[in-house]
Formats: sequence, structure tokens, C-alpha cells
Amino acid sequence: MNIQTYEHDVIVVGAGGAGLRAAIEASAAGVSVGLVCKSLLGKAHTVMAEGGIAAALANVDERDNWKVHFADTMRGGQYVNNWRMAQIHAQEAPDRVRELEAWGAVFDRTPDGRILQRNFGGHRYPRLAHVGDRTGLEMIRTLQDHGIHQGIAVYMECTIISLLKDGERVVGALGYYRENGRFVVFHAKAVVLATGGVGKAYKITSNSWEYTGDGHALAYHAGAELQDMEFVQFHPTGMVWPPSVRGILVTEGVRGEGGILLNSEGRRFMFDDIPENYRNQTAKNEEEGFRYCLGDKNANRPPELLTRDHVARCIRREVKEGRGSPHGGVYLDVSWMTKPGAFSKFKDPEFVRSRIKDPVEHIKKKLPSMYHQFKELGGLDITKEPMEVGPTTHYIMGGIRVDPDTQMSRVPGLFACGECACGINGANRLGGNSLSDLLVFGKRAGEFAAKYAKEHSAGRINPQQVEEEMRAALAFLDSPLGQENPFQVQYDLQNVMQDLVGIVRTEAEMVKALERIQELKERAKRSFAPGNREYNPGWHTCLDLRNLLTVSEAITRAAIERRESRGAQFREDYPEKKAEYGNRNTIVSKGPNGEMQFRWEPIPEMPAELKRIIEEMK
Ligand code: FUM
Repeated sequence: MNIQTYEHDVIVVGAGGAGLRAAIEASAAGVSVGLVCKSLLGKAHTVMAEGGIAAALANVDERDNWKVHFADTMRGGQYVNNWRMAQIHAQEAPDRVRELEAWGAVFDRTPDGRILQRNFGGHRYPRLAHVGDRTGLEMIRTLQDHGIHQGIAVYMECTIISLLKDGERVVGALGYYRENGRFVVFHAKAVVLATGGVGKAYKITSNSWEYTGDGHALAYHAGAELQDMEFVQFHPTGMVWPPSVRGILVTEGVRGEGGILLNSEGRRFMFDDIPENYRNQTAKNEEEGFRYCLGDKNANRPPELLTRDHVARCIRREVKEGRGSPHGGVYLDVSWMTKPGAFSKFKDPEFVRSRIKDPVEHIKKKLPSMYHQFKELGGLDITKEPMEVGPTTHYIMGGIRVDPDTQMSRVPGLFACGECACGINGANRLGGNSLSDLLVFGKRAGEFAAKYAKEHSAGRINPQQVEEEMRAALAFLDSPLGQENPFQVQYDLQNVMQDLVGIVRTEAEMVKALERIQELKERAKRSFAPGNREYNPGWHTCLDLRNLLTVSEAITRAAIERRESRGAQFREDYPEKKAEYGNRNTIVSKGPNGEMQFRWEPIPEMPAELKRIIEEMK
């Protein structure tokens, strides 16, 4: 093989929070680590988790502890979570946050100098450690800073297109540099996938161009299983206007700080539909909800802080029934606080006034990025006017099936962490749990990948596999069949997923989606990127399409099989949650003839101690 080859003990693919944390841990264990980023180091979807890191530090409310966090996560996930992962996550998150602080993360502070925590949907107590509304950014900055001083080798703007195997075991990866198209082989004893999500399979998304389901698809084609792919999270609040910024995230932190959702009639519609299991923890009126946001421990959360799946569906309903905003969203308003007499209507206005001296400054201090984002991108001052928002594809709860303790998939030597792995979130992720997930399980993946690397010798790279993969990739540049524009194929796929496998689903529509996906697969094979390998984004898209189509098919097949509504999966034809689906996960894997196979996996019995915790918290 006449191509550049790098040797490492552990290769980490993806350099967002999970990948960085895995690389740091593996490197600290004394093995050589290569960190491969599709984009530039530091550019990752982690920055889109803006509002905070969920961890039961109990700095703002001393009633919080890992048990409450565990129970909240299970309830939010509608009990199809991997309970062991939810337990580890809740137990270890506080230490991971303190560690991040020790590495230099500059958190907002309580008056007595501890890490400040804010409210988020589905979390019983203020639990999100934050840095204004730029928490993900601060996390990446800190991890990057820490990681580069540990001697981790970083390979930027390099896309992995295939995992290399020696028998059953993964022994490396084949990639190419986006700039010049040159292929590169990474030879490693263990590979950690931390590639994030699949947002670019949808038209409206908070994800940027990198998120094409690479890790999910790489693992699938290498023999790993994908679990619970039907659960795609539509964050309730993305920008809807102007069109060029549609989908960009508007943090849940806005609602955590007292932002309210209004329809075109000016009605606070979230009060109309409060699910039974959250009724006794939801505010009865506006004042109570706002007091909760300001830290009144006796108040209940406003309905805007119900779980994301529910809020997104309520917004969709308002729009569909003709009560939306001019550009197809609803209004998210913090400017109500700045209006004369805003607090006078409350029974106890002094409580609010004692906490908010100057509402305009309060908004700018708590939500600096949102203030800036709407000013710059939408020409709107959020302290004066409501924002227009609507659901945006943000996150996938489904992903690579891994061992909950070690994060290894069923393919020896192949580990996964962060969004591309599955387990902790069940049917719906609570906001802020992603950042703690990637710290907790990034660390574990790095630790166990390093252990695996120490216990195994290097496997052999099969030159024939490399040759075949390269030939297949290059065929898109010189295709006798090539007539399809890869961008058009991706665009058409995005429309199919948005329209037929979106927030509200039916069997008939999803069956149609599967047919369309099969057609798109054929078109993708004929996609063509004329020119050469240098600076050729069309070629990159030809290569990304395989991943996008794999994850789209997996989402659709799993969503068809789950004939019920649970968390992020809402089936108009099966609107009820069904007990028989509450104890199993969907699994897809690659069959012997390359076809996608489906099966159900029963959820193991939860230990009595964890069951007791859930019961007590109810
Ligand atoms: O709304 C947000 O700030 C997003 C957080 C998350 O997805 O965890």
C-alpha cells in the first residue's frame, strides 16, 4: 500500500466533547493516541448544547442527588433507557464537572462562589452547571486546551470512510484529507467512535455539515448493532427566520430563565396540555412558573420546561391549527419582563424585583449568545421583541449498541461514546444530559480502549480491503454511470426524512419513505463529482451519502416497528404508549447479504434498588 499510514494504540474518530474526553483519558493511561477530526479541532456540535451540563452537584438546591437525576433521566426517557448507563451517568457526572472546573472551565457562580446551576426541562431541581449560554463552547475550549498538552496527535479535516478489520476485530480506519483528497490509513489496536449525530439527514436541523451519521454507519457496516434509532430529538426551539439560519438552536436556557411560548393569539398555549405524569410538578399559573425560574424552591416548573418531545409537539400543533407566527413557528418571549408593570400583576412582585433589578441587563447577562445571535442573524433585539421559533432536528437518542460499563460495541476493539452511542437517554434525552454523557462516557471509552490496546497486540491491516475501499471512493470521480448530482440526492433525502419521518409519524408515510430511500440509494450509487480529488465538496457528499442513507433507513425501519408513541417517537396511527413496548429496544444490524435486519432486544431486569429509587421519586 503506497499510502500514508499512522500507527497509534488508540484512534479516536471525532473531536467534540466525547472524543476529546476519550482521547484525554486514553492518553493519560500511557498509550499513544490519534484524534481524527472531520472539521477543524474545536468545531463540534457540542457547542450547540448551550444551556448547561446536567450534574447533581446540589449547589442551588440541596435536595438534589444522583438518585433524583437518575429517576428524572429514566422518566424523561420513558423507561427504555439502559438503566445501568443512566445510573453511571447520574453517579459520575458531578465528578466530571468538578474535574472540568479543575482543568480551567470558568463556570457562572452562586453568590457564595460555587458553580451555578439552572433549570431545564424534565430536571426536578436546578441542575445545569453553565457558562451563560455558551457552556458547550467553554467545555470544548477546556478539553482542547487540556488535551493538546498531553501529546495527543491531531489529524484535522480528515474524514474516515471505513473501519479496517482483521477477522472480527477492528484494527484501524481508512480516511481522506478533505483538502487534497489524499487517503490515509490509521493502524490502531482500538478505535473509539465519537462522531456525533445524524442531523444532516433532515432539512431543518441545528447540526452543521459534519453530522452525516458517520460513526453510526461505520460501526453498522463493520458489524456493530444500532439501537433505538427511531428516537430522534426535535428540539422545540430553533430559529425559523430568516431562511438562511433556519434550524439554528435557541437554547432551552431561554425558557429556563423565564421565556414563555405564545401563539399568534398571544396565548400561552403550553398551559393547555400538561401530561398526567408531570401534572403535580407543573406550575398552576404564570407567577409560580416564573418564581421557579428565579429559584423559589416551593414553586413548580413552568409548562415550557416540560420535556422536549412534548413541547415540540405542542408547537407543531399550534402551527398546524393556524395559530403560528408568520414564518411557521411560534413566539418565544423574554421581552415580557422588560415591559412596564410586567411584575405588578403578580401577588408578590417584590420576590421578582429582589432578584431582577434591571430586566434588560438580566436578559443580556443570562443569555448573551442569544442576544447576539438574534441581533446579528435576525436583526431583532430579544429584550424588546419576541423571537420566532420552531422545532429543529437536534439529536439522536439511538446509536451504536455498547456495553454500559466499557462502551465497547459487539465488534472487538470498537468503542463508541457520546451521541453516536446509545443507551443513557431512552426515548427522549433531557437537555444538558448530553454534555454530562459525553464527559462520563467519553472518559470510560478512553479508559477501556486504552486497556484493550494494552492487552492486545496490533492486528494486521488487509491491503485488499484498503484497495477496494479506495477504488469504490474514487469511482465517484470517474463514473461511467454518473448522472446524479450528490447535493440533489442529499436534498431529496432531507425532504423525505423531514416530511415522512418527522415529529409526527404514520406507517403509510414511513413505508413510502422506505421506498424513497431505496430509490435514493440507487441514485447515490450513480452520483458523480466531476473534477479531481482536491477541494471537491461534491466528492465529499458522494461519500457522505452512504452514511446518511444508512442512518435514514435505520431510523425509518425502527420507527415502523415501534407501533406506539413514546418519547420522541409520536405515531399518529398509534397515539398511545403500550406496555408491551416498554421493556424492549429496537435493534438493526447488517445481514449476511448486506440487507438491514431488524430485531427486538429485551431490556434486562432492573435491580430492585434502582426500581425503589424510581418509585420513591414518583
Ligand atoms: O438548549 C440547549 O441549550 C441544548 C442543550 C442540549 O441539547 O443538551
